Amino acid sequence: MMAGNWKMYKTPAETKAFFEAFKPLTESAANRDIVICPPFPNLHAAVSETEGTNIGVGAQNLYWGKEGAVTGEVSGHMLQAIGCQYVIIAHSERRQYFGENEADVVRKVKAALEYGLTPIVCVGERLEEREGGGTEAVLGEQFDGGIAPLTAEEFAKIVIAYEPVWAIGTGKTATPKMAADAHRFIRGKVSGKFGAEAGASTRILYGGSVKPDNVKNLMAEEEIDGALVGGASLDPASFAAVVNF
Ligand code: 13P
Repeated sequence: MMAGNWKMYKTPAETKAFFEAFKPLTESAANRDIVICPPFPNLHAAVSETEGTNIGVGAQNLYWGKEGAVTGEVSGHMLQAIGCQYVIIAHSERRQYFGENEADVVRKVKAALEYGLTPIVCVGERLEEREGGGTEAVLGEQFDGGIAPLTAEEFAKIVIAYEPVWAIGTGKTATPKMAADAHRFIRGKVSGKFGAEAGASTRILYGGSVKPDNVKNLMAEEEIDGALVGGASLDPASFAAVVNF
């Protein structure tokens, strides 16, 4: 799976222009799932531009519950109704700026699944945690608190994204080995909780400064099942180069 997280970039007109350029570049990419996650106001344009293509559309966040007096929030029900298929959950920017925690992850994943959305659940350590030797402890806590409480049936429908926070938007990619080691650790946690088969089949994406010139080496690692791409997903040619690596 190659997923683009546009973060807080692009207008609906820019969204339309992106897909006009991007679609012809990726129409023969048959053996992978392509996903674009634009900001909420662009979802409608993204869904209509991608109708009948091999490209799925996702949101970057959701709120649990179907509807209610929750000013400023968007529900899974609304995302499903507009044609979304995916939703990113607990991106590190949401953890950092909006205080999202593991209890939120569980509530949001369940809400996404209730409305037929595939959750892309983000985990990852900060620089000081890696430098202090705490990477596995952090990933373990995020897994135990946010993912382990799911049922096996729920877990089977999620995608995990490992995004080391120090590699996001910094140009400092994790080496393929660093990423693979983290993925192996997460996979071990999955096997321990949900069984060996779940461990082997779960998709774990790597995110953090993925670009056309480093994607091939990252994807050469058997542990890495795809990428969650920020900056390089904003330009049609560069994201197509990532998708078609
Ligand atoms: P960059 O690819 O810009 O480092 O962002 C990664 C990311 O946060 C994707 O969710």
